[in-house]
Amino acid sequence: MQLTEIRKAAVLGTGQMGPGIAYTLACAGCTVTLFGRTPESADRGLRAVTAAVETLVRGEVLGPTDGADILARITGSTDLGAAVVDADLVTESIAEDLRTKQDLFVRLEGLCPARTLLTSNTSGLPATQLARPLQRPERFAVTHYWNPPHLMQLVEIVKGEHTSQETIDLLVALLRRAGKQTAVVKKDIPGQLGVRLFNGVIREAIWLVQEGYATPEDVDTAIKNGFGLRFPVWGVFEHLDAQGLDTVLAIQSYMFKELCHDTDAARTLKDKVASGELGARVGRGFYDWSHRDLTAIKKRRDEFLLEHLKAQRRKDTPTA
Ligand SMILES: NC(=O)c1ccc[n+]([C@@H]2O[C@H](COP(=O)([O-])OP(=O)(O)OC[C@H]3O[C@@H](n4cnc5c(N)ncnc54)[C@H](O)[C@@H]3O)[C@@H](O)[C@H]2O)c1
Repeated sequence: MQLTEIRKAAVLGTGQMGPGIAYTLACAGCTVTLFGRTPESADRGLRAVTAAVETLVRGEVLGPTDGADILARITGSTDLGAAVVDADLVTESIAEDLRTKQDLFVRLEGLCPARTLLTSNTSGLPATQLARPLQRPERFAVTHYWNPPHLMQLVEIVKGEHTSQETIDLLVALLRRAGKQTAVVKKDIPGQLGVRLFNGVIREAIWLVQEGYATPEDVDTAIKNGFGLRFPVWGVFEHLDAQGLDTVLAIQSYMFKELCHDTDAARTLKDKVASGELGARVGRGFYDWSHRDLTAIKKRRDEFLLEHLKAQRRKDTPTA
């Protein structure tokens, strides 16, 4: 299969992630069917795609004509068979449950042509296990988008034990054509790349608060204004090589034994969950949310991501 042969895509699931995935595949030039189980769900999904495109047009990431062209390529459907019957790629973004996803993929193999690539947006279920009941596991991979998918550029592509290199190469090429940045995970591992790396930071962050070294505010301040601020242009391995590996070794020799080594969920986290401090939705987690506005914080995050995308787009567009 050639990249140019991937023309029709179907996206299953109209929750937080599905609409942004449909938008992405339409950006790659595909006509996309967004499947929801009910007319209300399909409509909600299409409205979310429209809202995402409007945000990107308002933020000058997309021109109005491009936005309209992308929307024209996406339709909704409640008929799974019709949505996937001639699809070259089907991406599911339904409930995070192994059996539910496996059952869906088995069903899809019966409905789709043999050539169809099947992908899952799972947050961490192993690609190999998801593909276990499949007849054609070589055409299956995980494509893990980041939330919000119309603003975050990364898609991790996870190779299962039987995924072919051709499948990986096609997905990388397609997602790059959509303007995404791809990272391939060569061997199936729980949490893929980003979720593992983030959890390393989360483990240490909670431990520092739990042991009384700093407040959640100060840990967040350190992350947002320290290493987090330069991450978009300064990766870990760039940093290590710039610092000099002998210096890195000297630091690790005394630092690593000091870091949190817990292999179970954090004590503080368990205590908070047991006492009902579940986070913003109940008014208290690590922060007291009675004086904080989550909606405003999310808005600021999305505006920041939009500005970043706009700057990226300017950089990638050659000037005349
Ligand atoms: N939300 C995130 O930040 C995020 C990020 C990356 C990956 N993911 C993964 O993406 C997937 C979807 O997550 P979400 O946050 O969009 O979930 P969500 O609950 O917002 O949406 C799930 C959608 O799937 C539908 N659905 C559920 N079971 C179904 C089934 N059996 N058949 C068809 N449709 C079904 C629901 O009606 C809903 O529209 C999950 O696997 C999740 O782990 C989520």
